[in-house]
Amino acid sequence: MTMRILAVDQGTSGTKAVVTDGRGAVLAIAEEPLRPSYIGGGGVEQDPGALLESVLTAGRRAAEGHRITAVALANQGETVLAWDRATGAPLTSAIVWQDRRAEAVCDARRAHETTVAARTGLVLDPYFSAPKMRWIREHLTTDGVVTTTDTWLVHQLCGAFVTDASTASRSLLLDLDTGAWSGELLDVFGLGGEALPEVVASDAVVGTTTAFGGEVPVTGLIVDQQAALLAEACLRAGEAKCTYGTGAFMLAQLGAAPRRSAHGLSASIAWRLRDRVEYCLDGQVYTAASAVRWLADLGLIDGADQLDTVAADDNGGVLCVPALAGLAAPWWDASATAQLTGMTLSTGRGHLVRAVLEGVAAQVAAVARLAGDDLGTPLTRLRVDGGLTRSRVLMQAQADLAQLPVEVYPSPHATPLGAAACAALALDPALTAADVTGGWQPSAVYEPRWSPDRAAEHMARFHAAVEHR
Ligand code: G3P
Repeated sequence: MTMRILAVDQGTSGTKAVVTDGRGAVLAIAEEPLRPSYIGGGGVEQDPGALLESVLTAGRRAAEGHRITAVALANQGETVLAWDRATGAPLTSAIVWQDRRAEAVCDARRAHETTVAARTGLVLDPYFSAPKMRWIREHLTTDGVVTTTDTWLVHQLCGAFVTDASTASRSLLLDLDTGAWSGELLDVFGLGGEALPEVVASDAVVGTTTAFGGEVPVTGLIVDQQAALLAEACLRAGEAKCTYGTGAFMLAQLGAAPRRSAHGLSASIAWRLRDRVEYCLDGQVYTAASAVRWLADLGLIDGADQLDTVAADDNGGVLCVPALAGLAAPWWDASATAQLTGMTLSTGRGHLVRAVLEGVAAQVAAVARLAGDDLGTPLTRLRVDGGLTRSRVLMQAQADLAQLPVEVYPSPHATPLGAAACAALALDPALTAADVTGGWQPSAVYEPRWSPDRAAEHMARFHAAVEHR
């Protein structure tokens, strides 16, 4: 069967659409950049109209000249908005996962922290969807429905009112063990009366759309990070990847048992495919490419392409904790701010650039280690993807600090390819997850060059800086 899947990755900094054969070959690609608004008080917003427009524009450009057989969609995971279910019109801005204004919503519910963690596998933090949904209800509107962006975008495409299990598991409203919305948690967040989308599998066909040409099924709905985990064939417990996008997200496959982290990571649904649920652990660095963009905004580099030419050979004693949008796992401190320490009059911009890259890598190394602690056996390698994998300096720092071989996924399109893999499973019941994700070789492998002692010393300095924030 010839597949031509249009897979759309609706991300924080842009929307990418690819046409693929469902087995990893990319036949067309189109991208539309997006720039979230960073507003005072930790607010990060996007215009829902711009999100939809970017999906339609990128999707139509990629699909041009191809006979598309399905449309798949990867989404940001925890970005929410209110909208009118009758007209589809947005009623608020999209409140982005990086937005920290719902911290007070979380603080008011600290008494429920243990229950929330036990039920959901997540931590009570404004990163996840429910606090931001509640914040919208308290500050913006009580009208319409309040959902993650995937539900709204899919509704625009085909009229369905759904979310997939992986996205639902990022909400703080889903019972991780049953995979169903929890009435108890809805009450905790004061969202008991809300109309909630149906939770579907990532290979469910949820409707059809003519938005990109002829009428085709909509299927392959999944969180962007989980999509990359699938594309990188992290199919066995302990296999892990990190995607360096707007943030950096390390996910480790947990297998079919819904476990919880004992070390401050979050646990969620990796995907529900072929009626089987698999789970993953994740640790987050909220600012990776957005830290690089910040360096560019400050004038230290022109853009990400300059990272490796500007970065000094060593950090000159400068250390960075890149908490420009708070700290996630395992610290969970939404009000944490970034640190740059160890500067002298001889510090140059090259040291600062290297320190920021090492800061991102150190945070990823910290969560990768904790994933190993939870799994009971250290990770043996880290697969990586995303725009910042083009920085050899960052990748080498990652290998050095994590003390793991770092294997670069050969395509820059892991996320849409993961969503497309879900759609391929929907289109052809004979295929397995291994069929649609296997057979790739890393385009580069970075082996650790630092000694374990040197890495441990650097990590101890990093942890001390985080503790003294
Ligand atoms: O949890 C948020 C994350 O999945 C967003 O990914 O690619 O937009 O940085 P990205």
